[in-house]
Amino acid sequence: MSTIPATIRLSADQIRERIGRLPRVRLAFTPTPLEEVPRFSEALGGPRILIKRDDLTGFAFGGNKVRAMEFRMADVQAKHCNAFVLVNIGQSNHARLHAAACARLGIKMVIVKPGPKNERVQGNLLLNHITGAEIVETGTTDPAELERILDDVLEDLRRRGYRPYASTRDPFSPIAGTIAFTEAAIEVVEQMSAAGIDCCQLFLVGGTSAAGLALGGKLLGAPYRVHAVSVGGSRQQLLSSEIALSNRVATEVLDLPPIMSADDFAVYDEYVGSRYGDATPEVLEAIRLLGRTEGIFVDPVYTGKALAGVIGEIRKGTLTREDTVIFVHTGGTPIIFAYDEVLSRI
Ligand SMILES: Cc1ncc(COP(=O)(O)O)c(C=O)c1O
Repeated sequence: MSTIPATIRLSADQIRERIGRLPRVRLAFTPTPLEEVPRFSEALGGPRILIKRDDLTGFAFGGNKVRAMEFRMADVQAKHCNAFVLVNIGQSNHARLHAAACARLGIKMVIVKPGPKNERVQGNLLLNHITGAEIVETGTTDPAELERILDDVLEDLRRRGYRPYASTRDPFSPIAGTIAFTEAAIEVVEQMSAAGIDCCQLFLVGGTSAAGLALGGKLLGAPYRVHAVSVGGSRQQLLSSEIALSNRVATEVLDLPPIMSADDFAVYDEYVGSRYGDATPEVLEAIRLLGRTEGIFVDPVYTGKALAGVIGEIRKGTLTREDTVIFVHTGGTPIIFAYDEVLSRI
């Protein structure tokens, strides 16, 4: 599928060597399994479907971000910071995993939480509570106001003797996930080969991971195409962000020219529903079908939406019985418990 000149290919060892120059903290159990889901596939009338179980990365209920944190938390340590500050909502998987990583590494974690105060302490928010993260209730979603509050929180931490790492402002932080998944592409390619798959369509939630899988796949000449499903923004926004992230890693980490373009991604925004977090009927169907055919859980905000994308493309006929699909399960399962009212009715 790749069309780049062979001179811009990198071997698995070359990718590992260049990424291996970065500081890293080991947190993830890898390789994660690549699992066949024949009953799910049969219920949809084909194609062959497998799930890359990155919900099983093993740390703090798992998920794709555990791989990213290996680089981000090492960056925190390399910059001699001892407090990690994140602006993120109560049900953020990102926040939960960083809260747990901070607990593991002895770093203070502060979450500046947009949205309503006194939310029900459930799902990820409950796990944040257990890890002892300090949560600053802002009661606002206004970006300018959140930035002002973040300034105050950072100042306050400095006064208290901490050296804070403001994740949303740090230039390295956004590419940590793309670096991790450029490397994870090697794992996917090796597992495809072991499973006898010579070509496949790789579906996942759009974001830093999809950017890395596309970059790694292109460099390796991998026989897969990355399909990134938006859970929030428009197709164009997601596509621009995938290209920008993958080219940042190509140029800043791998010493390459910016080789990634729109051709390297298939991007979807038709499964978003009305907004981020909208548990559409298609998402609920995806959660129910995977749960009832395979005993595997996806959540209504991220993985359920990307899986609704797989089902939708099968029904449209763009994925046929001849195709092989790998769905990358990026985790997020604690969110299920915060949607108990909706999900108890499916
Ligand atoms: C479960 C889950 N999957 C996928 C994503 C997509 O983003 P990324 O690939 O940048 O982690 C997120 C982001 O919050 C997530 O929580």
